[in-house]
Amino acid sequence: MNEIDTLSDKLLGEIAAAQDEPALEQLRIAALGKSGSVSGLLKTLGAMTPDERKEKGPLINGLRDRVQAALGERKEALGEAALNARLASERVDISLPVREGPEARGRIHPISQVIDEITAIFGDMGFAIAEGPDVETDDLNFTKLNFPVGHPAREMHDTFFFAPDANGERKLLRTHTSPVQIRTMISQEPPIRVVCPGRTYRMDSDQTHTPMFHQVEGLVIEKQAHFGHMKWVLEEFCKAFFEVEGVKMRFRPSFFPFTEPSAEVDIQCSRKGGEIRFGEGEDWLEILGCGMVHPNVLRNCGLDPDVYQGFAWGMGIDRIAMLKYGMPDLRPFFEADIRWLSHYGFRPLDLPTLAGGLTS
Ligand code: DAH
Repeated sequence: MNEIDTLSDKLLGEIAAAQDEPALEQLRIAALGKSGSVSGLLKTLGAMTPDERKEKGPLINGLRDRVQAALGERKEALGEAALNARLASERVDISLPVREGPEARGRIHPISQVIDEITAIFGDMGFAIAEGPDVETDDLNFTKLNFPVGHPAREMHDTFFFAPDANGERKLLRTHTSPVQIRTMISQEPPIRVVCPGRTYRMDSDQTHTPMFHQVEGLVIEKQAHFGHMKWVLEEFCKAFFEVEGVKMRFRPSFFPFTEPSAEVDIQCSRKGGEIRFGEGEDWLEILGCGMVHPNVLRNCGLDPDVYQGFAWGMGIDRIAMLKYGMPDLRPFFEADIRWLSHYGFRPLDLPTLAGGLTS
């Protein structure tokens, strides 16, 4: 075998065996670079006789062409293999189940959940949300709500008072969400339809009472809003909230200074087996207070009771949360125990809506 064939076999063998592009580049330089083996052979052509050149020229050029072609082919093959390896390593199996992110592990507190549910239900009925501050004046918490100064109903609220300020005014932590009614009537023109969820405070603590708790107030002021409208609104709310087809309600006469007539509402339930169920049974459970807004309250807010009338109600959020979700003790609501929250909490991305379900 002549020298050219030997070199050809060696180079083509090496090229075929090259494992990556840098190794292939080394081989190219060693063969076709300035001082490469093939380039060296090409240079010998100049010193040959015409006859020799005629014989060796095509052989040497043929060698160069084969080496070049082999380099090109190998390069392409290596590039394709590298791409396939990368594609394989970066492959994503879109049929795998979605891994839970940290945001899916967090839990929504039952109080926030119930406020969202209440907002969804009343929002659907055309109510807006109104809010007021936790630190309230005596005037808005009591006087404008028709609690005369010195009236015993004030004492029933076990109020937290602040020390009097420079003007002798004694602020307090609101004992109910009813002052938000006053704020709304003073700042808005009727027709008014609002619900007001928020924190409330009373000096009280046992299994079902905590010094800070939550209420939601409702208020409708129009020219013709009457007791029948209120019954319908409350009944629709109870059906939607407790997720039952129908619920019997009982309106018992009661007293609140800011409503006349006033009532307390019980809803039908069964307590069989120590578990409370709504929409069935012969037992009753009190869930809210309500009534027609007292003419004095309308007057205190600059509304003419001969033109406007309306109804209002107030409900304990914590209480209806406990009833709906079967939580026997109120105190853990405010203990920030992560184990309690993982048990009773709600998934953050399941927002309550009437169409999609309040609790999915
Ligand atoms: N504010 C009352 C309470 O805390 C609840 C209440 C009763 C609110 C009747 C109302 C109402 O708006 O009409 O006990």
